[in-house]
Amino acid sequence: MTATMMSKGLEGVVAAETRMSFIDGEKGVLEYVGIAIDDLARNSSFEETVFLLWNQRLPKRAELDAFNKDLRARYELPTGMDQRIASLPKDAQPMHMLRTMVSSLGMFDPSPNAVDVPTARQKALNILAQAPAIVAAFDRSRRGLVYVNPDASLSFAANFLYMLNGQKPTPTMERAFDACMILHADHGLNNSTFTARVIASTLSDVYSAITGAIGSLRGPLHGGANEDVMRMLGEIPPAADCERFIQEKLAKKAKIAGFGHRVYKSYDPRATYLKTLAKQLATDTGNQELYEKSNAIEQVMLREKAAKGIYPNVDFYSATTYHCIGLKLDLFTPMFALSRIAGWAGHVLEQLADNRLFRPDAEYVGPHGVGYVGMAER
Ligand code: ACO
Repeated sequence: MTATMMSKGLEGVVAAETRMSFIDGEKGVLEYVGIAIDDLARNSSFEETVFLLWNQRLPKRAELDAFNKDLRARYELPTGMDQRIASLPKDAQPMHMLRTMVSSLGMFDPSPNAVDVPTARQKALNILAQAPAIVAAFDRSRRGLVYVNPDASLSFAANFLYMLNGQKPTPTMERAFDACMILHADHGLNNSTFTARVIASTLSDVYSAITGAIGSLRGPLHGGANEDVMRMLGEIPPAADCERFIQEKLAKKAKIAGFGHRVYKSYDPRATYLKTLAKQLATDTGNQELYEKSNAIEQVMLREKAAKGIYPNVDFYSATTYHCIGLKLDLFTPMFALSRIAGWAGHVLEQLADNRLFRPDAEYVGPHGVGYVGMAER
């Protein structure tokens, strides 16, 4: 096929098939394997959701038990990795740390390059199981605290919060965090997922694909926006007028973090669920002010920008939610990554099962026929 059109940002270009998530951006629909995201957030668990994404069906009880057992058996980091994490600069940014340490997992794998689908799936499960320990180990180390070994009796969500805080979470916090993990798990061919698939398409390895995706996710136009939302909420003093704050930003043509989406031109269904969750958690944890500020910002934005299809996205209310769960600001984007590893890995498996090297063209817009000018004549 010869290149006939250019789409800057690849907008409107369909570049892969997937059986995992379906998005209707006009109607505000997100489904994983045909199940509405809200239904999953209310009724499923993160582990069950990962099984669903990777197998395109819900597991039977015995299958889910086996999947949980397999995942939990991989919670432990490779020997010595906690010390290596403790030796990292304490002021390193967690996303840079996570990208680097996920990449380093490949060095502990005796066959890191295997890309047959069953073996690649094992590697994906390892990364999914161990990424929480990497984040928790780093956060504890920079706080001067000792590493907490994972607890294989706990769910993915509870185990992460346990390793981070040194104590088991309440059922409410476990459930809230689990729901966040479900909501962020997959989202079509977003930038980081595309990155993962592009890397996988060279038949490089799963570690490289996930590492590249983490690098993509941290950008403020993508997963980094949840941290920007929190910074923005922090900039507005308690008694200040949200209306004026937002209007001033809009007057300067600034973008408001947590609003707008390349695909959704209506309310992001993940934001719908997260708004309710954020409200509940804010009430439970005495953070009503934060929720009220968020809601006030949303009302201004809806009035000013809904006509242009700009609504809250997944990052807007996840900021308040993560804050109420007790997570530090610079861990917000790593939380997105812990969950999205499920989606990235699922897409890598889909890519490997039916691979075609990604190699688009660029339209050359530079000059032709320019003679070489020697150094002395320039
Ligand atoms: N605040 C104010 N105006 C906005 C916003 C916003 N957050 N987002 C888009 N707009 C406006 C733009 O200024 C532009 O207006 P114009 O037509 O008058 O020039 C119009 O809406 C279209 O915006 P684009 O940036 O061209 O839309 P695009 O599809 O490229 O952008 C994006 C999507 C990058 C997410 C954008 O909305 C944005 O920067 N949002 C803020 C960052 C953010 O929240 N990112 C997280 C996205 S969700 C995720 O990745 C998990």
